[in-house]
Amino acid sequence: MADAAWWQRGVIYQIYPRSFMDSDGDGVGDLPGILARLDHLTWLGVDAIWLSPVYPSPMADSGYDVADYRDIDPLFGTLDDLDRLVAAAHDRGLRVLLDWVPNHTSDQHPWFRASRASRDDPKRDWYIWRDPRPGGGPPSNWLDYAGESAWRWDGRTGQYYYRVFLDAQPDLNWRNPEVQAAMFDTLRFWLRRGVDGFRIDVLSLLVEDDRLRDNPPNPDYRPGEDWPFMRELSVWNVDRPETRELAGRMREVVDEFGDDRVLLAELVLPLEQTVAYYGADGRGIQVPFNFELLTAAWEARGIAGYIGRYLAALPAGGWPNWVLGNHDTPRVASRVGPAQARVAAMLLLTLPGTPILYQGDELGLGDVAIPPEQAVDPIARLIPGRGRDPERTPIPWDGGPGAGFTGGRPWLPVGDANRRRHVAAQRDDPGSMLTLHRRLLRLRRGTPALVTGGYAPIGSDGDLLAYLRTAPGGDRCMVALNLGPRPARLALPGPEATGRVALSTHPDRDGAAVASPLELRGDEGVVVSLG
Ligand code: NOJ
Ligand code: MG
Repeated sequence: MADAAWWQRGVIYQIYPRSFMDSDGDGVGDLPGILARLDHLTWLGVDAIWLSPVYPSPMADSGYDVADYRDIDPLFGTLDDLDRLVAAAHDRGLRVLLDWVPNHTSDQHPWFRASRASRDDPKRDWYIWRDPRPGGGPPSNWLDYAGESAWRWDGRTGQYYYRVFLDAQPDLNWRNPEVQAAMFDTLRFWLRRGVDGFRIDVLSLLVEDDRLRDNPPNPDYRPGEDWPFMRELSVWNVDRPETRELAGRMREVVDEFGDDRVLLAELVLPLEQTVAYYGADGRGIQVPFNFELLTAAWEARGIAGYIGRYLAALPAGGWPNWVLGNHDTPRVASRVGPAQARVAAMLLLTLPGTPILYQGDELGLGDVAIPPEQAVDPIARLIPGRGRDPERTPIPWDGGPGAGFTGGRPWLPVGDANRRRHVAAQRDDPGSMLTLHRRLLRLRRGTPALVTGGYAPIGSDGDLLAYLRTAPGGDRCMVALNLGPRPARLALPGPEATGRVALSTHPDRDGAAVASPLELRGDEGVVVSLG
């Protein structure tokens, strides 16, 4: 894999722009803020940044409701700011990916305003308008995010329109070639500006069955535990063959700009369906997100089993990827606890494939409880307990009043516990979470076995999760992760059965020679260079 692409070697860092860095004191992060912190990111050692949406938006869904795909919302800055950011990132060897939201627009997008104005409008067919079914009621039984009908009645023109998220996020009609052409052109608009690729929002929802067939009920639905829409099996409105074909067309568009632009895609599908998006002969999405670690039970056998199943399911040439956190999921430090969050970081950064790191996870930030009356995320109201504000709170940069994030009042509270986890305090602390990330990133970069090497599981029991990574030249390292609080031991492989601790989650033994059996403390993970 000497010719591996940058996005195969690299680590992608997700920036949630509202919460990264505020430059103008309005309490909301912005592009000049990101620019001002780029040196921090190169110091940390990531290779690319993906920005959650920064397009003009009424912010009904924090920017995932786009009103113009070719501009920047004034809240975040200007097109010039974006150009400056891309140039400055490239100067530092960092790539820049934008979020692209093709499934739906804002209801304030001029396309939808025209579409909804009259049945004869040329844009009418750009969205999905249907009459009630015979006898009345929504045209199909398809459900939205919150478990209600995904069809919304619009009295003005007497038809339903289809939308999976908020009323303010109508689904585009991707069967319409004009929609395809217009949306593909929005990709070209940014690619021409030098953007290195996109993360595609909810790609799996792009196209729906043209006969509007009803979904069957889901016999395994667990009320209260599963998302409400999981009450039915979304076979007719999710992951349609037309969507897979369009994914290939998106890839052709980015390939017009050379072979080092990349597409990441959010799919939220079972494994077999997710990997179909790599496309025939790898002509599809290069990074169909692998979300397993976001929800997996923190248990060594289960995770080891999943790693094996995932790698086995990849098509020839399909490159793996791993996502540990994002702006839609409780923070990893809150899911597994602070001690295991260090082990989780080592897992993310030593598994084969591209790691995607969510801003703030490198600081060990936890979820911030947001009282219902302060909730910004509409999901907090629609599905109590599922609000996503807790994982979207501002990055604490220093111990100052606005945590170094803002000179004003942050749009969400920083949170007392997170406030103490600020960058300035962690930067020079050898035991900090930030230092662990920086060292893992540096180790990874300098260790071909970890970047492009092969993967082989090491059988073990209890809470141990262990594997070998082997470089093409033969250099090997062993990763041994103790997912539990009790000490554990593991034989070192090979005839020599000796090695050196390249890095431990407990920094007191870095560089130490080790012999078999390797002793691990509770909650400890180590990378051992063998031989
Ligand atoms: C997935 C995004 O990650 C989430 O934040 C958003 O609410 C939905 N898609 C709708 O765009
Ligand atoms: Mg759709």
